[in-house]
Amino acid sequence: MDLISIFCGFCLFVGIVLTAVKLYEVSIKKPFVSEIKLHGKTAIVTGANTGLGYWTALDLAKRGARVILACRNLQKAEEAKKKILKELSDRGDVVVSHLDLSSMQSVRQFARETYEQESRLDILINNAAVSSMPKTITEEGLEFTYATNHVAPFLLTDLLLDLLKKSAPSRIVNLTSIMNTFGKVDVGDLQGKKDYDGFSSYCNTKLMNILFTKELARRLEGTGVSTCCVHPGAAGTEIFRGLWGNQLFTPFLSLFFKTPRDGAQTTLYAAVSEEMRNARGEYLSDSQVYDHTWWISGSAYDQGLCKKLWEATEAIIATTDLSSSN
Ligand SMILES: NC(=O)c1ccc[n+]([C@@H]2O[C@H](COP(=O)([O-])OP(=O)(O)OC[C@H]3O[C@@H](n4cnc5c(N)ncnc54)[C@H](OP(=O)(O)O)[C@@H]3O)[C@@H](O)[C@H]2O)c1
Repeated sequence: MDLISIFCGFCLFVGIVLTAVKLYEVSIKKPFVSEIKLHGKTAIVTGANTGLGYWTALDLAKRGARVILACRNLQKAEEAKKKILKELSDRGDVVVSHLDLSSMQSVRQFARETYEQESRLDILINNAAVSSMPKTITEEGLEFTYATNHVAPFLLTDLLLDLLKKSAPSRIVNLTSIMNTFGKVDVGDLQGKKDYDGFSSYCNTKLMNILFTKELARRLEGTGVSTCCVHPGAAGTEIFRGLWGNQLFTPFLSLFFKTPRDGAQTTLYAAVSEEMRNARGEYLSDSQVYDHTWWISGSAYDQGLCKKLWEATEAIIATTDLSSSN
C-alpha cells in the first residue's frame, strides 16, 4: 500500500468517526429545560470565563443565582462577567474572584475570601481543567495538570464543605470526561513522575475526578450535600489548546461537536434539576445516569482505590501546606 492510500484511508476513518459523533450528538441532544429559579442561592463555577463554564454560569445567573466566576485570568473573567450582565440587561448578580487551580496557595486564599464575603454556598461546580499539557512542575512541587485537574478541586471542595453543609441542601458537581476510560490511577505515583504524557495525564485526572466523586458521596452521606460527576459530551471549546496545531483543527472539529452551550446542559441538569437533588456520586452524560456502562472505567467502582486515592491526595496536599507556611 502506498502512502497516498494510507493517508486517504486515515482521512476516511476520521471522517466516519466524526460523522458518527455528530449523528450521535444530534440524536441525543437534550437541552435542560426547567423553570427552576435560584434567587437567594449562591453558586461558584471554576473556569467560568470561557467554554462550558461560561454557559453554565450564564444559565445559573439567568435563574437568579449569585454566581462567582472563579478564574485564573481576571481580565478574561471581567469580560465574561460583562457579557453575562449584558445578556441579563444588567440585572444579574455576578462576581469575579481570582482562583489559580495550579496553586494550592491560591485555592486556600480563594476559600478564605469566600468565607469572608459569602454567607452561603448552594452550588459548587468544579469545571476548570487543562488537557494535553507538557510536564510542568509548579513552585509547590506539584505536576501542573494533576494539580489543576485533581488536587485543586479536591482541596477546594474540602475547604468549602462547611459552607456547603451550612447551606444544605447543596450540591457539588465535578466535570469529568469519557476519556476516563483510558485513565489509570497509580496511587504510588499519582502525579506521573515515572511516566508522564499530556494525553494520559488528562485521562488519568478525569478518572480521578470520578473516584473522588464516588468517595466524596460516601463521606457526605446524611449531610444534605449531594454530589455527582458529569461527562458533558464532545463540545467545541478550547480544551485542546495544549495540543500542537490546535488552532488549525479546533474550528474544523467544532463542526462535528456540540456547541459549548449544548455541552453545558448536563452540568445544569446536575446542578439544578429536582431529579439530581439527592445525587450520590452518579456519573452523568446527556442529562441521564451512565453508571455501569462502557462510558465509565470499571475501576470507578473499586471502593478501596477510591479510599487510597483520597488518602494519597491528602498526603500531597499536606506537602503544599508545609511549603506555604515556610
Ligand atoms: N469540551 C469537551 O469536549 C469536553 C469533553 C469532556 C469533558 N470536558 C470537561 O469540561 C470541563 C470544561 O472544559 P471546556 O471544554 O469548557 O474547556 P475550556 O474551554 O478550555 O475551559 C477551561 C476553563 O478552565 C480554566 N482553567 C484552566 N486551568 C486553570 C487553572 N489553573 N486555574 C483556574 N482555571 C483554569 C480556563 O481558564 P483560561 O481561559 O484562563 O485558560 C477555562 O476557563 C473540563 O473539566 C473538561 O475536562 C470537556
